[in-house]
Amino acid sequence: MSTPMEVTLQNPRDADISNQQDGVVEASAPLPPPTPPPPPVLSECKVLVSVEACLKPSSTARIDDVRAAIERMLENRNLSYVDGPIPVPLDDPFLTENVERICIGDTDEWVQNHEVLLFWQVKPVVHVFQLSEEGPCEDLSGDGQLSTFNEWILPAREFDGMWESLIFESGLKQRLLRYAASALLFTEKGVDPFLVSWNRIILLHGPPGTGKTSLCKALAQKLSIRFNYRYPQCQLVEVNAHSLFSKWFSESGKLVAKLFQKIQEMVEEENNLVFVLIDEVESLAAARKAALSGSEPSDSIRVVNALLTQMDKLKSSPNVIILTTSNITAAIDIAFVDRADIKAYVGPPTLQARYEILRSCLQELIRKAILSSFQDCDNLILPNYTSMKEKLNMPAATQEVQTPFHLSKQLLEAAEACEGLSGRALRKLPFLAHAAVSDPYNCDPSRFLRTMIDTAKRELSELHD
Ligand SMILES: Nc1ncnc2c1ncn2[C@@H]1O[C@H](COP(=O)(O)OP(=O)(O)OP(=O)(O)O)[C@@H](O)[C@H]1O
Ligand SMILES: [Mg+2]
Repeated sequence: MSTPMEVTLQNPRDADISNQQDGVVEASAPLPPPTPPPPPVLSECKVLVSVEACLKPSSTARIDDVRAAIERMLENRNLSYVDGPIPVPLDDPFLTENVERICIGDTDEWVQNHEVLLFWQVKPVVHVFQLSEEGPCEDLSGDGQLSTFNEWILPAREFDGMWESLIFESGLKQRLLRYAASALLFTEKGVDPFLVSWNRIILLHGPPGTGKTSLCKALAQKLSIRFNYRYPQCQLVEVNAHSLFSKWFSESGKLVAKLFQKIQEMVEEENNLVFVLIDEVESLAAARKAALSGSEPSDSIRVVNALLTQMDKLKSSPNVIILTTSNITAAIDIAFVDRADIKAYVGPPTLQARYEILRSCLQELIRKAILSSFQDCDNLILPNYTSMKEKLNMPAATQEVQTPFHLSKQLLEAAEACEGLSGRALRKLPFLAHAAVSDPYNCDPSRFLRTMIDTAKRELSELHD
């Protein structure tokens, strides 16, 4: 995948205007020779925007054919590009038969403050994919207790929408996506690792419930969609490090061997892109420390070392990305994580993120008619944080007194009241609040928000107790 380039966009209409002004001359002056039109600079100026098309489960169409049809459709419709869905054209029977939805992504990198990219500024990059309907394939470790790993075929229905649902500020998601794209490109082009060094290990660390595991899964899903032209098959293997080491070490030895044998088999197929997710990677570090200090049977040293050697070996395969998470924010002393190229801190949600998380919850409850009771509630769209802030800064007289604005002010209050709650707690809050309202079958959004603020305060006080 080529990476979008950073360019200054030049509006061709501006260019025209400046030419006309340059060309203004005195009436009596002799006519200047006609100025040639400016050279076509557009191709250099275009920004790459992803357009993702999800095929219907029933579709058997060829991906290339669907991609070509969507490219044609985009060419014919002079769209403006903003993140979000675009309708599947009803007048195109091939697309309506095969495509479930089409979504534009990544435009927010290029525009701010509700601006949109216009069709002539954009080179759409169309990704067509079909979701795997299979759930995780679980590996039970024999005694029917904790499984050592789960495996998914990507992109999976289970992770659909996860990327969009995760809200972080500071461009974390884009940074991860670009990083992985560069790592895969370097590998694909065979860049000499002795000359330019990089690896494919990502560590996300931070407090509990901040979305680290979800972000790893969502990133794997997104990459499986964006790179399907190169890797038509993708798998995600989630290693349960905790279960590996909560057992007797002699058992663990066998489990580690079995696990890596399985991963190695996947990796040998060069069209496969394999994501290995090791959650709570600190449990490996703790196991190694215990092994080295001699407080564990000598067997354990062998197991931990075997695991690290296997990880090192895996790291050299070009088609593997290792995703790790940890709740420990201090440096983790563990060989392969030491060398992670991206160590990103994932902190508790900021005010803006809290507002957006709660807004998405509320919007879902409105969509599903759990919150209603006034007219036109079905079509109620709450403004996002930026537009809500803009409106708040307007003089009071010009502010809307309509429902969406009024509710968004209340929502902001709720987001403020939730300082200290994790993303996980925030996503549960609307449910807890609903259980606390007096009339759950006739729930007015404004009343609901007031209950939610009380619930948040109660949750926070329990947290501090
Ligand atoms: N920034 C966020 N934006 C949206 N949702 C979030 C965010 N952070 C957490 N969540 C929600 O919280 C839930 C838990 O997230 P997840 O399990 O990924 O957190 P975690 O950081 O891995 O937690 P732990 O450290 O306890 O393993 C997810 O279902 C996700 O929807
Ligand atoms: Mg986690």
